[in-house]
Amino acid sequence: MALSTGIIKIKTAVFISGNGSNLKSLIKFSKLKKSPISINLIVSDNHKAKGLDYGKIYKIKKKIFNFRNKNLTEKKIISELKINKIEFICLAGFMKIISKNFIKKFSGKIINIHPSLLPKYKGLNTHQRAIENNEKFSGCTVHFVTSILDSGKIILQKKVKINKNDTSKKLAKRVLLEEHKIYPKAILKIFSF
Ligand code: GRF
Repeated sequence: MALSTGIIKIKTAVFISGNGSNLKSLIKFSKLKKSPISINLIVSDNHKAKGLDYGKIYKIKKKIFNFRNKNLTEKKIISELKINKIEFICLAGFMKIISKNFIKKFSGKIINIHPSLLPKYKGLNTHQRAIENNEKFSGCTVHFVTSILDSGKIILQKKVKINKNDTSKKLAKRVLLEEHKIYPKAILKIFSF
C-alpha cells in the first residue's frame, strides 16, 4: 500500500456512531510502538455517541457531522480529513453509508469491521440472522471498503462458536471481544511488508 510508514505513523481517522469500543481498542493499539497508525481524528454522525468520550479521555480531536445533506457533509468531512492530513480511515460501528465518490477519493485506504463471517450476513442484525439460520458459527471480519456494502476484500476474520441457547445479545458480546483483537491485527497485516 502506498502510504508512508516508518517512524512517523500513518495519520488515521476513526468513524463511529455508537459505543466506540472498537475505537478504544484501536486507540490503545495505536499507542504501541509496533502500531503503524496514530489516531488523529474521530468522526461521528451522532453527537450522542458514547464513543466520543474517548476523544476527551485520550485527547484526540473529534468532529461531529449531521448528514441532513449527505453530499455537502461528505465534502466537509473530506476537507476536515485534509486539514488533519489523514491518510487512512477505520470505520468502527459507523452507521452511515459512505458514497462512491468519497470511497474513490480514499480508494484502498478505508477499512471496516463487520460482525459476521462475510460474505455471509451483510448489513444489520447479523447475529440474530445467524442464530435463526442455525449456523454453528458467527464471527467478525475486517475488510476494505468498496462502493458495494460489506463486500470489499477481506483482510482478517475470526470465527466465534454459536452456543445452543445463545441470544443475539450474548453472541454479540462474545464477538465484540474478538473484534477488539482482530481490528488491530488486520491493520498490522495491511502494513507489514
Ligand atoms: C461492532 O459490532 C461492529 O462490528 C459493528 O458495530 C459495532 C460497533 O461497536 N459495525 P462499537 O461501537 O465499536 O462498540
